[in-house]
Amino acid sequence: MGEENLLPNKQIVLKNYLQGCPKETDFELRTTKVSTEIPHGSKGVLLKNLYLACDPYICHLMRPRGLSILSSHGFIVPGSVVRGYGVAKVIKSGYEELKEGEYVWGITSWEDFSWNFYPQQLLIKINITHDVPLSYYAGILGMSGLAAYVGWNEICCPKQGEIVYVSSGAGGVGHLVGQFAKMMGCYVVGSASTNQKVDLLKTELGFDDAFNYKQGDLRSKLNKYFPKGIDIYFDNVGGEMLDEVMLKMNINGRIAASGMISQYNLKEPQGIHNLFSLIEKRLSVRGFMVLDYKEKYPEYAEWAVKKLQEKKLVYVEDVITGLENVVSAFVGIYHGLNIGKRIVVVAEE
Ligand SMILES: NC(=O)c1ccc[n+]([C@@H]2O[C@H](COP(=O)([O-])OP(=O)(O)OC[C@H]3O[C@@H](n4cnc5c(N)ncnc54)[C@H](OP(=O)(O)O)[C@@H]3O)[C@@H](O)[C@H]2O)c1
Repeated sequence: MGEENLLPNKQIVLKNYLQGCPKETDFELRTTKVSTEIPHGSKGVLLKNLYLACDPYICHLMRPRGLSILSSHGFIVPGSVVRGYGVAKVIKSGYEELKEGEYVWGITSWEDFSWNFYPQQLLIKINITHDVPLSYYAGILGMSGLAAYVGWNEICCPKQGEIVYVSSGAGGVGHLVGQFAKMMGCYVVGSASTNQKVDLLKTELGFDDAFNYKQGDLRSKLNKYFPKGIDIYFDNVGGEMLDEVMLKMNINGRIAASGMISQYNLKEPQGIHNLFSLIEKRLSVRGFMVLDYKEKYPEYAEWAVKKLQEKKLVYVEDVITGLENVVSAFVGIYHGLNIGKRIVVVAEE
């Protein structure tokens, strides 16, 4: 193959399976070349990656016996390029539904250019009919936004005036859920690990209240911020928080199990002790996987774009620049270093 058909390609490769919390040394930057020729008869597309999402679930894919949390992903084995959600531009296409120059969001890889041979299953075409930034498809108009929307509307079964608690309230999913709950006339409290995030929730995002869960005793905090109990808990963290919240739930309360980030990197998950609350309080606990709600995406995207344009929805984007910084950006989310949805800019359009 002639050199003219090859492009230099920087890639982020998993060096060894993760043990505990992801570390920068678990990954390495590799420079290689990618062919720009469409393999004969292939429906593949060559993508120029623009924005990558730092999503907590990715750690599950990089363990020897990880959870196959997204079957479309498969596992990421040592020596292979990390995969995850992102936004990209199509620069070569053997798939008639996608043309060169069009934009997509979906599953791509942590590298400059990626061949995607399953565009129908893994990519969604972006119809640019508005002035919302393209990077938003790595967050609010992508997987995180849809998760917040279906988690809130389909799983929480909310009613006006209910008392709602959102953990990881200043994160990509959490800061949207809190605003969706406010739009419905609920009383909303969020929690986060820093006072800066707590201030953001109260001042910019319209939460009724917020607290720093790292300061002081959790049970007293929940007693202080929920004197009338909790009707809906949108759980992004699991573990001790979930256990304590059980005791504060009101009768007929609902818990949406969105994520359990406090457990993702532990050798053994912590147990939940206060399960009798399920019976005593007649609670419903329901998990969900955003992938099961793909058909809701068009409805959600139209709604969210409108809310953004009307300035009724605030999206906080935590932007890190450069593919070489994606690993530290990703590792940082497990230490609470992001505010809002953390994304990495690989290239400008
Ligand atoms: N079910 C689904 O389909 C679905 C889809 C998307 C995401 N999720 C889940 O939703 C949750 C939020 O995802 P996201 O993308 O929006 O991430 P995120 O909230 O933007 O980022 C992660 C945040 O989690 C908190 N955190 C990190 N380690 C923690 C620990 N040990 N204990 C407690 N909190 C910790 C930190 O915020 P603090 O400052 O609050 O500590 C951190 O900023 C995750 O659990 C994710 O797996 C589920």
